[in-house]
Amino acid sequence: MSHLLRSLLYSLFLLSIFFGNGKFLATARCLDEQSSLLLQLKANLSFSLGLIPSKISSWDSNTDCCSWEGVTCDDNVGHVIGLNLSSEFISGGIDNSSSLFSLRYLQNLNLAINAFNSSPIPSGFDRLLHLTTLNLSNSGFGGQIPIEFSRLTRLVSLDLSTLFVGELPLKLEQPGLKELIQNLSELRTLSLDGVNISAPGSYWAQALSSSVPNLQVLGLSNCHLSGPLDFSLSNLRFLSDIRLDLNDISAEVPEFFANFTNLTSLSLSSCGLRGKFPEKILQLRTLQTLDVSVNPKLGGSLPEFPKGASFRMLRLSGTSFTRELPDSIGNLKFLTSLEIWSCNFYGAIPVSLVRLTKLVSLDLSSNNFSGTVPWLGLPENLAEIFLYNNRLTGSIHSVPWNRFLKLENLHLRNNSLTGTIPSSLFTLPSLKQLHLAHNQFVGPLSESSNASLSPLAVLDLSSNNLEGPIPTSFFELQNLATLLLSFNNFNGTVHLENIQKLGNLSSLDLSYNRLSVNTSVSDASLSSFPEIGVLSLASCNLTEFPSFLRINQPIIRFLDLSNNKIHGVVPNWIWNVGNGLLVHLNLSCNFLDHLEEPLPNPNYSSGLVTIDLHSNLLQGPLPILSSSAVYLDYSNNNFTSTIPANISSYLSYTIFFSVSNNRLHGEIPTSICNASYLQVLDLSNNNLSHMIPTCLGSITWTLRVLNLGHNNFKGSIPQTFPVGCGLRTLDLNGNVLEGSVPTTLGNCKMLEVLDLGNNQINDTFPFWLESLLQLRVLILRSNHFHGPIRSTKTDHTFPSLQIIDLSSNDFVGNLSSEIFLSWKAMTVEGDEIQSEHKIETVKFKFLEFSQVYYQDSDANK
Ligand SMILES: *[C@@H]1O[C@H](CO)[C@@H](O)[C@H](O)[C@H]1NC(C)=O
Ligand SMILES: *[C@@H]1O[C@H](CO)[C@@H](O)[C@H](O)[C@H]1NC(C)=O
Ligand SMILES: *[C@@H]1O[C@H](CO)[C@@H](O)[C@H](O)[C@H]1NC(C)=O
Ligand SMILES: *[C@@H]1O[C@H](CO)[C@@H](O)[C@H](O)[C@H]1NC(C)=O
Ligand SMILES: *[C@@H]1O[C@H](CO)[C@@H](O)[C@H](O)[C@H]1NC(C)=O
Ligand SMILES: *[C@@H]1O[C@H](CO)[C@@H](O)[C@H](O)[C@H]1NC(C)=O
Ligand SMILES: *[C@@H]1O[C@H](CO)[C@@H](O)[C@H](O)[C@H]1NC(C)=O
Ligand SMILES: *[C@@H]1O[C@H](CO)[C@@H](O)[C@H](O)[C@H]1NC(C)=O
Ligand SMILES: *[C@@H]1O[C@H](CO)[C@@H](O)[C@H](O)[C@H]1NC(C)=O
Ligand SMILES: *[C@@H]1O[C@H](CO)[C@@H](O)[C@H](O)[C@H]1NC(C)=O
Ligand SMILES: *[C@@H]1O[C@H](CO)[C@@H](O)[C@H](O)[C@H]1NC(C)=O
Repeated sequence: MSHLLRSLLYSLFLLSIFFGNGKFLATARCLDEQSSLLLQLKANLSFSLGLIPSKISSWDSNTDCCSWEGVTCDDNVGHVIGLNLSSEFISGGIDNSSSLFSLRYLQNLNLAINAFNSSPIPSGFDRLLHLTTLNLSNSGFGGQIPIEFSRLTRLVSLDLSTLFVGELPLKLEQPGLKELIQNLSELRTLSLDGVNISAPGSYWAQALSSSVPNLQVLGLSNCHLSGPLDFSLSNLRFLSDIRLDLNDISAEVPEFFANFTNLTSLSLSSCGLRGKFPEKILQLRTLQTLDVSVNPKLGGSLPEFPKGASFRMLRLSGTSFTRELPDSIGNLKFLTSLEIWSCNFYGAIPVSLVRLTKLVSLDLSSNNFSGTVPWLGLPENLAEIFLYNNRLTGSIHSVPWNRFLKLENLHLRNNSLTGTIPSSLFTLPSLKQLHLAHNQFVGPLSESSNASLSPLAVLDLSSNNLEGPIPTSFFELQNLATLLLSFNNFNGTVHLENIQKLGNLSSLDLSYNRLSVNTSVSDASLSSFPEIGVLSLASCNLTEFPSFLRINQPIIRFLDLSNNKIHGVVPNWIWNVGNGLLVHLNLSCNFLDHLEEPLPNPNYSSGLVTIDLHSNLLQGPLPILSSSAVYLDYSNNNFTSTIPANISSYLSYTIFFSVSNNRLHGEIPTSICNASYLQVLDLSNNNLSHMIPTCLGSITWTLRVLNLGHNNFKGSIPQTFPVGCGLRTLDLNGNVLEGSVPTTLGNCKMLEVLDLGNNQINDTFPFWLESLLQLRVLILRSNHFHGPIRSTKTDHTFPSLQIIDLSSNDFVGNLSSEIFLSWKAMTVEGDEIQSEHKIETVKFKFLEFSQVYYQDSDANK
């Protein structure tokens, strides 16, 4: 090719750039006036401390402002018509007189995601009369939205939404929603999520339907709206995207949404919805996203889904949806996420799920699904399978797990799955979390190959029937952070040294197996030992405190060494384990006989919330170890002292306090009544004496269990049980109490167990207790009760009573059969007695989170 020809072609090429591309050709230079307005705006803006805006930084007077980042010009004249200053860390510098409002040709303005720090929106916007889109979402403005916005009649899109509402949210009070939008009839998109509108259903619905009939996108989540979903909303039939989450709608979902033929997304999460969700909405072919989660009173069921449905996401979790999943769920072939946890679905999991080839997340947990899991029916693309808390059965052993190459989280906890666990599960290429606890898996586990490559981070096999040795390959799982194997039948010896390869391990639970854990760790491996936060080695045949805890364990917060064979002294370094982070320490059921001095200063070890020392051989005075314990169990030891007079200073947060079965003497310090959170106070089986402080009666607002049995208390029982008394168990058996039964006990409407046996109470039969509807155990034996046993009423007396012991008293007269017939709970036939009504032990569930039960073991005496 000749030189001439080549340069000719090159010229043509350049010409084609200048003339062929219309935009390039026509773009005018930015007008000087516009340029200087932008520079003035830049000069006046302030930014969040230390953060540099990316777009505005590039604005430079030496270049054409139409080329500046975030700036769009009109093609012909050089007017600035678009300004996108989103995510520029702007914190101020725009007020009524800002040059921003002199950019009067602006059509699109975006100030979203900035940091205006609750300052008010300036009112100058009404000078930008050409605006068609205005986006101030998450910009940080607060307070009233100015009325001037109502003059922007060309607006097609207005976004004032805020995700994280701060101290001072935006609000629509004066003007209200109606005044704001009444002249904005062009609006297609209105997003006011997070703006405080505080309006009843008829107001906001009518304001919308009368002013913005062409609306397509409506965002009003978290706006303090009330219900109902007014019928006038049915006029907004072009709506495609509706967000009303987090409002207190408290109403039914109207069927007219099913008439919105372009509806693609409907989101009504946490709205207090009730009634039955209209099936027709679920059958809309256009609907891609439906979220009605967390509306516990909303019922409904899944209809037959039509072919050609376009659901991407279906979220019904936390509702009362019920019945079975229809086979036609397989028609939702675009579905990526099915979330229906915590509903009332039941029946089998349909095999037709296999047709949902795009499904990534499946969450059916906390329902009543039963039968076997159609593992071959689960789509291979799944990254998450949550089926926990159901009644699923069958084996997972022969499932071809290698189908699930993308599976990251498999959560099957709390079902009735059986059979052995295939070792291939532990080394799936993407699996990070495997939860199989609380099932009926059996057998030994085999070793897995290539464990060191596995991404597994959480492995929970607790509460099954697994046996044999713990596979050594578990100690090769390099990414493991949580390993929970408790409550199985694993046996053999575990050398704790093995965990040194698990650099990320932070929780280890080997408790309650048949393991012997050898805790000695060589100095060499100590240096590379993981930093553990939760260590549970209960019932692991330990004979000494693991010495590695003393060194190199800076973050431990939960330590359970209970039910072992540790003899002798509790070393005082144990109180400094975790450098003050230790929250839970359980040394119960060992053979510990004393605490090494010096004891911790309770004011410095104040992080300890649970201290359980029960069932050891500890002697000496009752130790005070923490100033903020919630759970303190010193029972079944050999402590000999009085209860310190200032005990209440250390019971400020205590819910459970037991010193039963020791050799304590002296009186109960009245200061104990300042422990205002106490629910269980057990001082039984000691040598305590003197009178029972009267203030103990008055703390029964919170106190649920008061056990002072088997001591030497004398005098009368306090008369101070207040109205609203919440006591469930009162045990005073085996003291030398006299006088009468306090009638104020009638205020304790929740009372289940009243044991006054083996005292010297001199009273008539306390028939006024018959109104205590929960009373199940009444023991009056071996006192000086006298007079006839009679009722004031003929029926509904002692309706729950199951055990009554009146022996060894001075009662006289006949026991009328009518009385016994009226005690209904006792006449139930043996077979009909529900196990929960059987009085073997009366259980008091006092702390949900620790799953600890207080057992009233004296109930049968
Ligand atoms: C904005 O900056 C200009 C100078 O760049 C100044 O004259 C003007 O007063 C400032 N305006 C505001 C509102 O701060
Ligand atoms: C505006 O800027 C943000 C942040 O730079 C960007 O993500 C967004 O796409 C822009 N918006 C438009 C409409 O160009
Ligand atoms: C902006 O102007 C409005 C009235 O147009 C006024 O109420 C408001 O106080 C002014 N704000 C500032 C910061 O000057
Ligand atoms: C407003 O801007 C933000 C951030 O750029 C964006 O995410 C959002 O979609 C915009 N709103 C509208 C209605 O376009
Ligand atoms: C809406 O427009 C009407 C007629 O143009 C006008 O009278 C009224 O003041 C406007 N309302 C608001 C809130 O701007
Ligand atoms: C639905 O959307 C299409 C295209 O987006 C539009 O042409 C049609 O008018 C809309 N129909 C309704 C009822 O909103
Ligand atoms: C839905 O539309 C149909 C026909 O257009 C009408 O007969 C019906 O009353 C509408 N339903 C509701 C709840 O508005
Ligand atoms: C562990 O238990 C199995 C039975 O499950 C038994 O065969 C084996 O001998 C036990 N091993 C040890 C070390 O106790
Ligand atoms: C417990 O450890 C002792 C040695 O300390 C050992 O003799 C015994 O067999 C172990 N018990 C079990 C169940 O492993
Ligand atoms: C309790 O402590 C005393 C010494 O104070 C001791 O003689 C006695 O044997 C201990 N009892 C038990 C069960 O350890
Ligand atoms: C019981 O009290 C009455 C007087 O209230 C008295 O006469 C009687 O002796 C007392 N009984 C006993 C056993 O103390």
